[in-house]
Amino acid sequence: MRGMPRILHVVGARPNFVKIAPIMAALRQHPVVEQRLVHTGQHYDPRMAGGFFDDLGLPVPDHDLRVGSGTHAEQTAAVMTRFEPVLHAEAPDLVVVVGDVNSTLAAALVAAKRGVPVAHVEAGLRSHDRSMPEEINRVLTDQLSAILLAPTEQAAANLRHDGRPADAITVVGNVMIDTLLAHRDTLPWPAVDEARDLGERGYIVLTLHRPANVDDPARLAAILARVADAAAGVPVLFPVHPRTSRLLAGDAAGRLPAGVRPLEPLGYRRFLALMVGAAAVITDSGGIQEETTALGVPCFTVRDTTEWPRTLTAGTNRLVGANAAGLADAMADLRAGRRPAPMPRLEDGRASTRVADVLASHLGAAPRPADRLAAV
Ligand code: UD1
Repeated sequence: MRGMPRILHVVGARPNFVKIAPIMAALRQHPVVEQRLVHTGQHYDPRMAGGFFDDLGLPVPDHDLRVGSGTHAEQTAAVMTRFEPVLHAEAPDLVVVVGDVNSTLAAALVAAKRGVPVAHVEAGLRSHDRSMPEEINRVLTDQLSAILLAPTEQAAANLRHDGRPADAITVVGNVMIDTLLAHRDTLPWPAVDEARDLGERGYIVLTLHRPANVDDPARLAAILARVADAAAGVPVLFPVHPRTSRLLAGDAAGRLPAGVRPLEPLGYRRFLALMVGAAAVITDSGGIQEETTALGVPCFTVRDTTEWPRTLTAGTNRLVGANAAGLADAMADLRAGRRPAPMPRLEDGRASTRVADVLASHLGAAPRPADRLAAV
């Protein structure tokens, strides 16, 4: 018979690794809880996965499902069929899923149907845009989860609006920012050779990987042209996501507008260092909107909606439209010195401690936590 309660964490893609690292570290403070890590292999190449495990001090996964790429149905189904026997063999008391990728939903669905309680970290985020695959993953994962760990008060309100029981919801803060704060003071500089040559604030960082922005070559070309135009001669350093690089392969690579310089995908610490030194960040990522807010770096988001509305009201973020039509005006404002006021401190770096306390308490391995986050 097994004595210690067991948690099975499931991760699959780059942003998941950043979120699970501080949670696993915080749970080590509860030595009576046993932890196991499953990597679905949704992200598999070393630049997207292995390097992140090293950077973040993550343990070698106990199970690597090696699902790889595919359509949404193929990928989700592959995680489900390969995760089910692992769940059976490990017989955990709790499954922890993070974020909103296909692996998140697939693992939650398998666990919930086998009667294993699911804890969702980053519960309640909503862009209210169902054309984003992540939005569908969020809504469904939240319906399947018994423990809902919301990053903000607004996310908790979204969960209540969707009929989730109030006693299942705890506002804990953003665990991604715990990771950022743990690394911020020891980052490498220069992040890449190009950054050394250009100097701090001498460049803009660009990331693009949303299907809506990068899967159509004409649309991607139009966005890149607007970025180059708005940068007005400031070099744009562009670590290219594999999804985006497929489109920029061959001839198209030569058609990048002048001033936009492609880079390989960077590891966690080098990418954070690149953002710290940037004059501004242009992105369509969710997490980067929060990271730039925490760093105080101006962020322009190439989308119409955000799942992180506080970055617009309390942070440096500005939505410039899915076609980047608002980017030139936003950059002109920045050059004219019209930038957001310094931000209030939104995070205390203890989100993952609160997550660990809630999980341990659920497993009977700790008293009910008293440390609740003030409204954010
Ligand atoms: C996924 C997540 C997205 C997250 C992003 C972070 C979903 C629906 N989307 O999107 O929320 O923001 O990860 O990067 O889960 N590829 C490689 N090597 C890899 C991984 C992917 O070359 O290690 C290529 C493959 O050609 C693949 C494509 O990238 O088809 C897309 O990968 P996939 O995991 O399906 O989705 P992302 O666009 O990365």
